[in-house]
Amino acid sequence: MGLIYMDYNATTPVKPAVLEALLPFYRLQFGNPSSIHWAGRQVRGAVEEARERVAALAGCEPVEVVFTSCGTEADNMAIMGVASARRGEGNHIITSRVEHPAVLNACLALEQQGYDITRLEVDRYGLPDLGELAAAINARTILISLMFANNETGTLFPVREIAALAAVHRICFHCDAVQAFGKVPIDVKRMGIGLAALSGHKIGAPKGVGALVVRTGTKLHPLLYGGPQERNRRGGTENVAGIVAFGKACELAGSGIADEAKRLAFLCDRLERGIGERIPHTRVNGHPTERLPNTLNISFRDVAADSLLLNLDLAGIAVSSGSACSSGTLKASHVLAAMSLDPAYARGSVRFSLGAESTEDEVDRVLAVLPPLVERLRNS
Ligand SMILES: Cc1ncc(COP(=O)(O)O)c(C=O)c1O
Repeated sequence: MGLIYMDYNATTPVKPAVLEALLPFYRLQFGNPSSIHWAGRQVRGAVEEARERVAALAGCEPVEVVFTSCGTEADNMAIMGVASARRGEGNHIITSRVEHPAVLNACLALEQQGYDITRLEVDRYGLPDLGELAAAINARTILISLMFANNETGTLFPVREIAALAAVHRICFHCDAVQAFGKVPIDVKRMGIGLAALSGHKIGAPKGVGALVVRTGTKLHPLLYGGPQERNRRGGTENVAGIVAFGKACELAGSGIADEAKRLAFLCDRLERGIGERIPHTRVNGHPTERLPNTLNISFRDVAADSLLLNLDLAGIAVSSGSACSSGTLKASHVLAAMSLDPAYARGSVRFSLGAESTEDEVDRVLAVLPPLVERLRNS
């Protein structure tokens, strides 16, 4: 029986058309885009074309796209860059308890340097309260950093409302859009986002490329100082093949985003319904409707997620767990812990995340394997 991959929120396979697009840039078109001779010119155009494709999917101008090495770098560039550039205006940053470590740990590092960080609590769906956000803003607030979609639960944040609130107070809004980009429509300009972190390997490009959208007028210092690449915003010779691949992946994602979202939502619903019908005492984590179409985070009462994960792996099924073993005990992830899940359920949380190569047949195979497995683990 073939292997089943249901961990697309962790990373995705490179799409065949993306691989085809990037390969020439390792051999034939190997130039440095900063070189003025023919070899450089050959690749400069390709980088700019990729920039246009990323911008088209993000809803911004091409000049507003700064290529980075990954989503983590983009998040760090946004947070550290604003903190440094606006230090004279204030030292207060607002984020939430359920952000990705790329945001949480950047904020923690700033806290250790004397910045004041507010981490908003979330409700049982993993959403911060907008009233609490408004109340947290003060005269020294320089940045609001809240995600577009949570990587563990898929819960979608009310990005437009957050952006509107930030705009009223003239505070920069950074949105970690790594998980949402290419899965749901994003229009940075219309939504009022100031900075948006994106990553290639979540949408069928290889690992090692990302981008930060920096809306014109945003005050930001670079993270990497070096040459004049990326209009002096990110030093370092560009990862040309990766950037070309990212552009191609954006083009592919953009051409069928609504249909693919519908297909993935159908598969996820089938999985969710099937589990609900076959296995007692389960709970879906995350918002029931405001959720990424590909993500199903589900808790099995009285089951240890790591045992379930290992047994699914033995059956050739790759998923990820919302719990981690820490000093011998299974602890719910920071995201699930912040959502105050019932402890009997929190330890048994598994994330299924589907993608381009997921099929109905795979969902049905998981539905055949899972019920006896959960029963066995509950009885052991
Ligand atoms: C929400 C979110 N932000 C940031 C990142 C980091 O992206 P990268 O793996 O490209 O560094 C991830 C990756 O899982 C993510 O899910």
